Amino acid sequence: VGQGPLAGKRVIVTSGPTREPIDPVRYISNHSSGAQGTALARALVDLGAEVVFVTGPGRVPPPPGVQVVPVTTAREMLDAVQAALPADAAVFAAAVADWRVAEVAGSKMKKTAGKMPALHFAENPDILATVAQMGAGRPELVVGFAAETDDVVANAQAKRARKRCDWIVANDVSEGTGTFGGAENTVHIVTEGAVEDWPRMTKDDVAARLAQRMAEALGG
Ligand code: C5P
Repeated sequence: VGQGPLAGKRVIVTSGPTREPIDPVRYISNHSSGAQGTALARALVDLGAEVVFVTGPGRVPPPPGVQVVPVTTAREMLDAVQAALPADAAVFAAAVADWRVAEVAGSKMKKTAGKMPALHFAENPDILATVAQMGAGRPELVVGFAAETDDVVANAQAKRARKRCDWIVANDVSEGTGTFGGAENTVHIVTEGAVEDWPRMTKDDVAARLAQRMAEALGG
């Protein structure tokens, strides 16, 4: 059993991108490295939490001391999160693909000169919203992330209300901020009726401070 303000608390963290197949050799994904989710999982372990780390195929290796559940698609990520419940808190740092290819080809799609394939999409489940809107068994603290390019705080407040999570960690990913793939982040913590503007700091420092805030909220 870990020691620290989160000892005895179970926390689910999603991280990294999801990858949605087109056929056995091709897929659709995004540039998420998993850096912020990994840093957060590490910070939660450092405070004594039991962490279930549900991760898509990111570039950053999972931190030591977590229970790693590797997944590929958004639907696998939802299943893994539901299987990891109950938990005291859940943090959704993954960059989940909004859409998947509706009908995945069973064999490699052939290239035909001059003829382009058409892809049809289906909407993926919103994992954060699904967990935030659970009745019985909802984690006490449900935290989402929002990457925005304009009206960062207003958009995050709207997202928080729509998804019904407790907090949104909002960051500005517009060009020139260097947030995507960089080591630093400028975040705003949007809670019910309040906004905390944190100064620019490393993703590790964001993670440590967020883990500390979570420990306070969970009564540690
Ligand atoms: O709607 P948007 O993608 O901006 O929301 C971002 C937040 O929602 C992040 O916390 C992300 O991990 C979560 N999310 C999710 N499942 C989805 C889409 C987003 O858990 N399908």
